[in-house]
Amino acid sequence: MPTLFDLTKPIVVAPMAGGPSTPELVIAAAQAGALGFLPGGYRSVADLMDQIAETRSSAGLFGVNLFVPEDDPGDLDAVRAYRDELRPLAEQLGAPDLPDPTPDDDAFESKVEALLDDPVPFVSFTFGCPDPALVRRLRDRGTTVLATVTCVDDAGRAEAADVDALIVQGPEAGGHRATFACASEPGMTSLGQLVTEIKLASELPLVAAGGLGSSVMVTSALRIADAVQVGTAFLLADEAGTSAAHRAALVDPAFTETAVTRAFSGRPARGLRNRFMDEYGSTAPPAYPGVNQVTTPIRRAAAAAGDLQHVHLWAGTAWQEARPGPATEIVDRLLG
Ligand SMILES: Cc1cc2nc3c(=O)[nH]c(=O)nc-3n(C[C@H](O)[C@H](O)[C@H](O)COP(=O)(O)O)c2cc1C
Repeated sequence: MPTLFDLTKPIVVAPMAGGPSTPELVIAAAQAGALGFLPGGYRSVADLMDQIAETRSSAGLFGVNLFVPEDDPGDLDAVRAYRDELRPLAEQLGAPDLPDPTPDDDAFESKVEALLDDPVPFVSFTFGCPDPALVRRLRDRGTTVLATVTCVDDAGRAEAADVDALIVQGPEAGGHRATFACASEPGMTSLGQLVTEIKLASELPLVAAGGLGSSVMVTSALRIADAVQVGTAFLLADEAGTSAAHRAALVDPAFTETAVTRAFSGRPARGLRNRFMDEYGSTAPPAYPGVNQVTTPIRRAAAAAGDLQHVHLWAGTAWQEARPGPATEIVDRLLG
């Protein structure tokens, strides 16, 4: 089975669902001696398998990331009330009618079966603890399994499920927090402190993630972790599929801070602070993927119109360090 210690460079290019992560980005990571992940979230099994085939033809080591579905979809009536609150904005933006929220597991089981039939070197999980039997099945197929954790308790649960390594995600991270339960409020212990605490409690290799945008930050994280996982610093990479609106926002000096909100998806996620977060952050219910479903038409309409105030602009606290260029150069810059 491959391990993180097989990497020439201890950098994981984070899976970034919704467009930024492409096979080209994952291949570029492999060519740089780092490790890239294809996001399995928000896409069909067929699309994921096509991307795996494309990536495998040029990358030796790579991984696939899956969202662990939660049994509890949250309060769907509260999501419907939120949808009613959003309707005037949807009309103003010319967005299609907002859908009724429905439970959806993102085809998790089918994706798992596909990865057991056609194994990849690494699989990482977010939004929950993979079942121990599933971890065993993946490992039996030669796949190295990682779980993303945001607190010491979740690290203990993932270790008990017999994963091979932990991705420790701090509150500085761009995109969704990986909390195991949607409704729980993610901790605010800084990444450095969190890695230190988990290291005292676990023997597993640790990958530090969140707010690592420069070689100074990466070098400091590598003193306590075995590797780092970096997302935001690659959003402007030539090979990334980041939308034009997202790219524009990341270099727009009008954005001066990031914030964590449930307004877009129902799960806490960090992005550039904009009007949508300010107006709806306090009323969005903790229900995933229902909130994600009802806000999708608004976010699509806003992105198409170049309206940066009503679209999610995921970014970690170090977003101002992100620079355009080939991913191989970004890997080298991060390592100093
Ligand atoms: C645009 C974007 C999309 C993301 N999508 C995923 C995802 O699909 N799966 C996942 O495990 N993490 C996802 N993350 C979180 C990353 O894995 C990682 O924790 C984070 O990028 C690290 O913080 P940084 O962005 O400050 O480097 C995403 C992050 C961003 C910025």
